[in-house]
Amino acid sequence: MPLFLEEREALDAAQLDQFAESGYLVLPGLLSETLRNRLVPEVDRWVDEGLRARSIASCVDPVTHEPPPVMELELPGHGELLTHRLLMRALADLMGPSFVFHHLHSDRQSPDIAGKPWHHDYEPNDRADPSLLMVHALHYLGGLDKTVGSLAVLPGSHRESVGKTALVHLGTAGLPGEVVIDRLPAGSTVLLNSALFHTRRPAPDGPGRPRYFVDASYCQVGARWRPVKPYWRQMLARARELNLDHGRWPELFADRHFTEYTRTT
Ligand SMILES: [Fe+2]
Repeated sequence: MPLFLEEREALDAAQLDQFAESGYLVLPGLLSETLRNRLVPEVDRWVDEGLRARSIASCVDPVTHEPPPVMELELPGHGELLTHRLLMRALADLMGPSFVFHHLHSDRQSPDIAGKPWHHDYEPNDRADPSLLMVHALHYLGGLDKTVGSLAVLPGSHRESVGKTALVHLGTAGLPGEVVIDRLPAGSTVLLNSALFHTRRPAPDGPGRPRYFVDASYCQVGARWRPVKPYWRQMLARARELNLDHGRWPELFADRHFTEYTRTT
């Protein structure tokens, strides 16, 4: 029975507990080789043709908020990734059936890129309700190993109510209680409670290979969230046009879950 198969593929109780307690969950090899083989050339194009640079908020016209010529979710593999069936099921298990897409970023990080200091990525909502979840799906298309570098997380830190950059002065230093995720097969996904502190560390033995990294985030409905892209309305409209939710997730691309864009820097 299809329904049974879908139920069987949902997160189990141990995974739900792990996410609630620790604030993260690793889904090794979530993405098929077929999908990865479509995504990697899309990421290359996104970077090499300057589309990524043009998509960054600071490069967008501050008056017209005109989107770049192509948005990530218009790349077919990225559109599929955004609403990947198993990912949607996992998100529904974590947040309930009503959640909204927040943003999608795609990058091919250079082997010699510096680490990213400790931070979290939780965006505010207009009810200032910290119980509403925001979840980031971090997709490592080529996996993680000593040639790519690692992700470190600080389990339980999602319960602290502090600013995104409260630990930035620590750089990428090792912290007591941290968990280092440094070995993942290709196509693995890490689900983060967006309020969880985490850091990106470079390859330990110097530049190795690029990190193909796509992150997408989703928010529980129940308040209006702050958008991070000036052209967020066009982005959601395009997702609806492309029917990326296949008619299954009515809140996923709904404008009403957002406040107006305001430049933060
Ligand atoms: Fe982050």
